[in-house]
Amino acid sequence: MPQKKVRKAIFPVGGLGTRFLPATKAMPKEMLPVVDKPLIQYAVEEAQAAGIEDFIFVTGRGKHAIEDHFDVSFELDTMLQAREKSDLLSVIRSWMPSPGQISYMRQMEPLGLGHAVWCARNLIGDEPFAVLLADDLVLSKTPCLQQMTEVHAETGGSVVAVMDVPREHTNRYGILDIERDDGRLASVRGLVEKPDPADAPSTLSIIGRYILQPQVFEHLDKQEKGAGGEIQLTDALAATLGSGPFNGLRFEGRRFDCGDKAGFLEATIAFALSRSDLAPAVRDIIKSYVDA
Ligand code: G1P
Repeated sequence: MPQKKVRKAIFPVGGLGTRFLPATKAMPKEMLPVVDKPLIQYAVEEAQAAGIEDFIFVTGRGKHAIEDHFDVSFELDTMLQAREKSDLLSVIRSWMPSPGQISYMRQMEPLGLGHAVWCARNLIGDEPFAVLLADDLVLSKTPCLQQMTEVHAETGGSVVAVMDVPREHTNRYGILDIERDDGRLASVRGLVEKPDPADAPSTLSIIGRYILQPQVFEHLDKQEKGAGGEIQLTDALAATLGSGPFNGLRFEGRRFDCGDKAGFLEATIAFALSRSDLAPAVRDIIKSYVDA
């Protein structure tokens, strides 16, 4: 049976970004640039590549820069047109979703990732949807969400992007309890949010990419608090198990935790090295530090 196409994506962008203070005092953490592009733009472009048509930002106070970024900048447009800078005009425009494709929903209270996703329930309705966390940046040949929508088209149900992590890091992630595993797809029989290494059912961790079914909202409706006193998306997903297929996809590519300073710096280096206009210079710079 053909699966319903994934047309909508939620981008939770309400978080405070305290780990990047003072940079994030007056600027949303999702606007931090990796090379020359804000984190949130990478996530939106990844969703576009996967065929997403509706972009739902679950936002909070102090996040206006995100709305401005995804809007026409009249002064800049006019100035670049007058100067006939068509290449720069394309840099600021070509990736913009069309008018009407972006919605903003205020989370109002920072009660957790599950709560952020729940806030978008009326904009999702009765169809599968994606969730992308902009902190998790993936460098890959095929955009990560596209790899997932390809799997979803075959399996249906829920699909989460996963990677193996060192056991001592299980308390940073949602962790899968696996029923079957063919090395690429792992069929899920349980999920635990941030278990202690000793209690973790595996070391297969969810990174911030999900394709979910609307049934998850029934569980989020209960507003139950989990790990860290927050309403956890992982707990609501665990409650949907048994209602349809649920797979973890070991995606092709490399994931960077841009919510962490070292991860953010690594992403900057990796993305710079992946660009032909910057790679030679960056390689020389790195070499000069390593040789010193
Ligand atoms: C969230 C999720 C967690 C997931 C992680 C991926 O945690 O709750 O299950 O593994 O994102 O980055 P957070 O990093 O927001 O604490």
